[in-house]
Amino acid sequence: MASINQYFLLMSYAIALVLVHCGSHALCRPLDSNNTALSMRDRHEQWMAKYGRTYKDLSEKEKRFNIFKENVERIESFNRASSLNHKLYKLGVNVFADLTTEEFRATHTSFEPCFSLQSMFGGSTTNNFKYENVTNVPPSMDWREKGAVTHVKEQGDCGLNQINTGNLISLSEQQLNDCDKTNHGCTGGSIKKAFKFIQQNQGILTEQVYPYKAIQGQCQTLQGHKVTINGFEKVPAGNEHALLQAVSKQPVAVRVDNSGFQLYQGGIFNGECGTKLNHDVTIVGYGTENGNDYWLVKNSWGANWGESGFMRIIRGLNMCGLTAAPSYPI
Ligand SMILES: *[C@@H]1O[C@H](CO)[C@@H](O)[C@H](O)[C@H]1NC(C)=O
Ligand SMILES: *[C@@H]1O[C@H](CO)[C@@H](O)[C@H](O)[C@H]1NC(C)=O
Repeated sequence: MASINQYFLLMSYAIALVLVHCGSHALCRPLDSNNTALSMRDRHEQWMAKYGRTYKDLSEKEKRFNIFKENVERIESFNRASSLNHKLYKLGVNVFADLTTEEFRATHTSFEPCFSLQSMFGGSTTNNFKYENVTNVPPSMDWREKGAVTHVKEQGDCGLNQINTGNLISLSEQQLNDCDKTNHGCTGGSIKKAFKFIQQNQGILTEQVYPYKAIQGQCQTLQGHKVTINGFEKVPAGNEHALLQAVSKQPVAVRVDNSGFQLYQGGIFNGECGTKLNHDVTIVGYGTENGNDYWLVKNSWGANWGESGFMRIIRGLNMCGLTAAPSYPI
């Protein structure tokens, strides 16, 4: 017969076994939460490595860790409930996962002075809509397949590449960098100067001829096809059918409310977003997936965001205000 001591030894062995193996059991919450905290730290470290993120000191790192953690929890709870909530898209721990919504908004929202390309053409923006009688609209369109869409670039806080409205036309930013000596930084004024340069130069070379090098270089005199912009035509506002007619013929620049885009990972975005038109994107196609109609949208937040830099937005609901101000260059 086992002694009392042996009995206790067995019991504590059993308890230890339970403790070791109860990682997923509800009774083990206290241990579990510390494990989760640890693995969240690991995830943050791995995320930092993946996106090459460094922080200036430990307190900044701690602050970013906490934001990261909140975002991860928000992402996971959104994704768990997404089909229940009839969401057709997922969020992901992407390149913006250590920014708060407010910080993100402050750095990835267009401010009027930097971004009123259309308004600069003021008088030459017409209300003619040359696609109004288009009837042969195919069921889907992807301008990427037709080579009409430039690759996704990461837009600086206020880089010159914004002037081409989401790379609708691939103008040579490098030529502007190298050759337009009047232009520094990004203010409404500098964008105006850029356009003055384009006008005086009787056009600007395409990016293919004068490629982007990310550093300022010698101004080169290269021969090639020059692009001039004569103006923009507007697609009648609030009319998704008109937008469809236009996109069946060429990519179209639209202005949207981008709240809700920060952690978008993939799928068909069907809200929420607000009604502030604060961001320019380009619609480069459309289609239908599982009975859901969508717009194919090119963004400027780098290829690490969304579906390789692109996103799909539900079509037919004027989602995020995308029919408010569509236009295309002529
Ligand atoms: C729990 O996590 C904290 C912070 O990572 C750590 O300092 C502490 O030692 C951990 N506690 C246990 C019991 O592992
Ligand atoms: C579209 O059709 C109408 C009626 O035939 C015509 O008046 C109008 O000029 C056409 N629009 C364009 C852009 O061709």
